[in-house]
Amino acid sequence: MNPGLEKLQLYPFQRLAQIKANSSPPKSSAIIDLSIGEPQLETPHIIQESLKRAISGVGKYPSTRGTLRLRESMSSWATKRFNLGKEQLLPDRNILPVSGTREALFSIAQTLFATNSAKSLVGLPNPFYQIYEGAAILAGATPYYFNGPAHNNFIPLFEDTPEKIWRKMSFMYICSPGNPAGNVMTSQQYDYLISMADKHNFFIIVDECYSELYGNEQEPPLGILEWCHLSGRSSFQRCLAMHSLSKRSNSPGLRSGFVAGDPDLIEKFFMYRTYHGSAMPLHVQEASITAWSDEEHVIANRDFYRENFDAVLNVLREKIDVSRPTAGFYLWVDVLSDDIKVCEQLYSHTGLIVLPGQFLSRKNDGLNPGTNRIRLALVAPKEQCIEAAYRLLSILS
Ligand SMILES: Cc1ncc(COP(=O)(O)O)c(C=O)c1O
Repeated sequence: MNPGLEKLQLYPFQRLAQIKANSSPPKSSAIIDLSIGEPQLETPHIIQESLKRAISGVGKYPSTRGTLRLRESMSSWATKRFNLGKEQLLPDRNILPVSGTREALFSIAQTLFATNSAKSLVGLPNPFYQIYEGAAILAGATPYYFNGPAHNNFIPLFEDTPEKIWRKMSFMYICSPGNPAGNVMTSQQYDYLISMADKHNFFIIVDECYSELYGNEQEPPLGILEWCHLSGRSSFQRCLAMHSLSKRSNSPGLRSGFVAGDPDLIEKFFMYRTYHGSAMPLHVQEASITAWSDEEHVIANRDFYRENFDAVLNVLREKIDVSRPTAGFYLWVDVLSDDIKVCEQLYSHTGLIVLPGQFLSRKNDGLNPGTNRIRLALVAPKEQCIEAAYRLLSILS
């Protein structure tokens, strides 16, 4: 058996299930579940209709590269969104469809990581989305956790990393906008990181699945492709961006996304994927073209999350110190005490389900950045989010 299986940690939602199994919520109040980052808004009708119209696609095997129309819709979306140069992101060279970012984040490790090499590390932020760790371990790598301290808004202090670590790096996962803190990498942070990648010959994989859910309409988060363009790195050397329709278009069940960037990495990933067997079904491709070609529903989504943040912060700020993230739909709250206990109490006393910060982080170098934090996914209707905020206050006080 793959020895990595023994090293995997329980997934955060399995750990949460244990908390729920050990107690019961009060009968008097309805459960509010803000633990999962699953949009509750309906999948836009144009996407559903497109899926239905193309359903006869189930009668055909899809190709690994997907149709040219699909890749064109992805490249024109990304070119516009990230202000890329004309014909920089070529549908034939720089883009591949994937079955959601989770699948791609996992399988890219199988493509990039070489066992028995001096490059034994895969870097990931801490706190983090647990697929990065599992993907690294199951590929035979040793995860290296870059601590993101609270005083740096949970973004790692990359400059403090010793050279000997960079030398052993095979590739790194970056999450921007981040889950759970909603933080966004700056151009300067990318400058440093990519200078290390060039110096020590490793790759940068940026998970951008929250890139379209941002607070300020005038300041969409910087993407790695955009950083490359601005830095004159015209063919995105060493860099891949991962995008998804799950959060952007309320379509987590569509399993649709894409990876874009360095053509050499794309070609190797393509080769891997011809065996991997995650080609996007034809009807999903059609629905995805519709989704990437429409911004109206995405703007409406941003309005929805902005209103949720406004309403919840309005309640919480009276009593606790909490700030609005730059992007994403998570509130990452400092509860100033044991986060697991707070989550247990929230569930058993109020029926509110949220994730303990420690389920999303590891202790490293004496620091566990998830300690005393909880994560609330503000995906439910506004009234439920407001009620959740009051329940949280009732426990914290
Ligand atoms: C940071 C992060 N990356 C990737 C994913 C997976 O999303 P997808 O539905 O695109 O596979 C999630 C899902 O919650 C996530 O939080």
